[in-house]
Amino acid sequence: MVVPSVRDWHPASWRDREALQQPDYEDTEALETVRAHLAALPPLVTSWEVERLKQQLAEAAAGRRFLLQGGDCAERFDECSAAVITNRLKVLLQMSLVLVYGLRLPIVRVGRLAGQYAKPRSADVETRNGRSLPSYRGDIINGPGFSADERRPDPRRMLEAYSRSALTLNFIRALAEGGFADLHHPEYWDLDFVQHSPLAADYRHIVDAIAEAIRFMETVSDAPLHALERVTFYTSHEALLLPYEEALTRFVAHRPGAYNLSTHFPWIGMRTAQPDGAHVEYARGIANPIGLKVGPDMTPSWLCDLLDRLNPDDEPGRLTLITRFGADRIGDCLPPLIEAVRATGRMVLWCCDPMHGNTETTESGLKTRRFENILAELEQAFDIHAAMGTHLGGVHFELTGEDVTECIGGARGLDEADLERAYKSHVDPRLNGEQALEMAFRIVRKHQRMRA
Ligand code: PEP
Ligand code: CO
Repeated sequence: MVVPSVRDWHPASWRDREALQQPDYEDTEALETVRAHLAALPPLVTSWEVERLKQQLAEAAAGRRFLLQGGDCAERFDECSAAVITNRLKVLLQMSLVLVYGLRLPIVRVGRLAGQYAKPRSADVETRNGRSLPSYRGDIINGPGFSADERRPDPRRMLEAYSRSALTLNFIRALAEGGFADLHHPEYWDLDFVQHSPLAADYRHIVDAIAEAIRFMETVSDAPLHALERVTFYTSHEALLLPYEEALTRFVAHRPGAYNLSTHFPWIGMRTAQPDGAHVEYARGIANPIGLKVGPDMTPSWLCDLLDRLNPDDEPGRLTLITRFGADRIGDCLPPLIEAVRATGRMVLWCCDPMHGNTETTESGLKTRRFENILAELEQAFDIHAAMGTHLGGVHFELTGEDVTECIGGARGLDEADLERAYKSHVDPRLNGEQALEMAFRIVRKHQRMRA
């Protein structure tokens, strides 16, 4: 098929490039069967939604909205349950309420969910007690258990991932559309443990102030504000497993170009951002807004090359740069990249992921992140952008609505000893519901200090 605006591209053109971080499927016949099966199934999202999100990200780049992107490092098949999904939505809704109130900007809510099943790994194999097996790469590829059976990549898992994504999205759409997300009833979003948190009073204050404002508006207009009864919620995931992404890439009837309709907002991970690599080749041809993770190794010329490939027409909302350097490196790494982007004259949305550059391992071998380091990177991101005349238009967190103990610190002062209590992640450590809400308050506080 000929795509007018993107020369020499088709959904499978990535196959001619080097594709890093892909599983080694032994059963290639099963891979082809799965690919064909997926390609025949309906998409999970629509091109209208994707275009609307792109428009909103363009507005965030221009400072008229703020992006809140968050969710698990990796979703798990066995966590596709009402409680987990509802709690995830609750924490994102609570955070967005705090942000909308404090920043006085509409919030673009994007979950890392309904498809966040594939993980890049730094090592291909994992060795335990002298035995080596392929690394766990996310439920869409293999299982986390340390057995040859679990760790064997199985293409049929892609169908399972598609189904779980559809089930998750179906439930989220129902919650977002009717009743649950109604701003007249923010008490529906209360997470049990947050009610006993040191933040409870601050949160209650915001909820009461918003309720008061709504009552006032409804009295003045003498009509209920129906627009507040639902929210718009978008999905995102790392476009890592390319056979899956390819199979969900569709040409639609009423618009030119191809869309990845497995998600609204795919991103390119830091380990797969080679300009000549398969992931960039795939992403350049789809019409979705694209996130690009930018880590400490990124050079100005590499970034400019990616800007040329991924957004040659400088389309508004197309590219979000999600920076993740670490609290001790952002000061050196971010300014030259801002300068380089500025020199191209192109528009990007700058978003800060303060999680992935701040991972450390405890003496007992658990991966963790410190609340204070996460916050420190975030605050520096605000300051650096302000000092350079750009602005931070979004934040990206790994979080969960569950009461886990994976990150250290926060208002309740979790310490290393607490981590053992409820550490559930098989990959990166997440902020728990309370720490995530606290982060939203800290963003607002930072914003207000900058305005003062
Ligand atoms: C992630 O977002 O889970 C991730 C692996 O990020 P990065 O590519 O920035 O390391
Ligand atoms: Co992660």
